[in-house]
Amino acid sequence: MNKLVAGNWKMHGLSADLSEVRAIAEQSRRYPAVDVALCVPAILIERAVRTAPGFAIGAQDVHQAPSGAHTGSVSAQMLRDAGARLTIVGHSERREFQRESDADVKAKAAAALGAGLDVILCVGESLKVRESGRAVETVVAQLDASLPVTVEGEAWLAIAYEPIWAIGTGKVPTNAEIGEMHAAIRARLVERFGPPGQAVRIVYGGSVKASNAAEIFGVADVDGALVGGASLKAADFIPIVAAAAVEGDAPIA
Ligand code: PGA
Repeated sequence: MNKLVAGNWKMHGLSADLSEVRAIAEQSRRYPAVDVALCVPAILIERAVRTAPGFAIGAQDVHQAPSGAHTGSVSAQMLRDAGARLTIVGHSERREFQRESDADVKAKAAAALGAGLDVILCVGESLKVRESGRAVETVVAQLDASLPVTVEGEAWLAIAYEPIWAIGTGKVPTNAEIGEMHAAIRARLVERFGPPGQAVRIVYGGSVKASNAAEIFGVADVDGALVGGASLKAADFIPIVAAAAVEGDAPIA
């Protein structure tokens, strides 16, 4: 399967930054064996889509209801209408600052998939949990409670394993820690969904950059990356895409 390399711009991005969207879209074309996407602030989606036609632009969150009295929120249908192809759900920053529960994340994932939006569903443990030795059981429980009932539709689901202590900190788990967690997530996906669970990509997120991407992509069951800080500039992001392409086809000159 193609690796997935998605950028998460978080609360970054003004009109002036659309030139980076364009550069990332253009340079990504050299790596057709990698699925590249940028998840930008909702207000920038439509302009990003116009700037980079054909390139996958996504959102960072979605409301679970199709419409209604939810001031400030955006539905899956609205995101599709703006041209988004995917959305992140359950990022740890939203779980923490917006108090999103596993049940909320599950409902968001189901709503997005049902509306035809691809989904990157995030899970990950705190440093306290990692140090207690309960990281795997905690993340698998979080996954279990956050997964939608089915993955059999038009849109795809990917899981992002993002240890909270590795996000924006420059700290990265060891290859063994990443491999152990991805294997546990894969096992649970197959238990839940049967053979379609094998096709769900499991990407790693947390301080991925050009200098560590190749090593991380070499770990078994790592099917790509969700990249925050290093996705804001083409010069930082494209080398990560290139690293993901190494196991696939040669780049187009
Ligand atoms: P980071 O963020 O790459 O800046 O650590 C990753 C994320 O939060 O998705």
